[in-house]
Amino acid sequence: ARIVVLVSGSGTNLQALLDAIAADPDGYGARVVAVGADRDGIAGLERAGRAGLPTFVCRVQDHASRGAWDQALAEATAAYEPDLVVSAGFMKIVGKEFLARFGGRLVNTHPALLPSFPGAHGVRDALAYGVKVTGCTVHLVDEGVDTGPIIAQGVVEIRDEDDESALHERIKEVERTLLVDVVGRMARNGYRIEGRKVRIP
Ligand code: GRF
Repeated sequence: ARIVVLVSGSGTNLQALLDAIAADPDGYGARVVAVGADRDGIAGLERAGRAGLPTFVCRVQDHASRGAWDQALAEATAAYEPDLVVSAGFMKIVGKEFLARFGGRLVNTHPALLPSFPGAHGVRDALAYGVKVTGCTVHLVDEGVDTGPIIAQGVVEIRDEDDESALHERIKEVERTLLVDVVGRMARNGYRIEGRKVRIP
């Protein structure tokens, strides 16, 4: 399977995918064909460059409207003919055009146990609420914010001494393993979407 990965930041989830593929290129069942971003100058793009992968940057401010940005992102992604698109720390909500092309094939990872704490501050919001366990969710993207069908979740316990960054680091450890596992299984085995259930045989 061909994968395009979308990033906005440090790209450690991207790196985990690249490492898993490099460790077993045939066995993993997928390869990253390009990395896209919504901004320049991020470590995620450097990681892609070091791996010799093509990159593209699609910035909202370079387009006349959000819709035009969405269309440009969809076209840039489509140029690499991906079977799956992985949003790995991509901090933008994609729009209609992107979903029209990649709906059902767009996988996101979120640093909380959805449907609790959706949105851009899942770690901070869980801490502020005072829950005792949180984690990460790998899910398909639909038109809502972190509302699409859940594929897999990982649990992380919150410690009394946690601050946002310490907790986020522990979540990200679980998240990387989960994402690598889920994407590989989807690529190797295929999957079916039945209502809100995603079944990977
Ligand atoms: C992940 O925790 C992701 O869920 C969140 O941002 C983080 C991205 O980390 N939205 P990285 O860029 O993959 O290191």
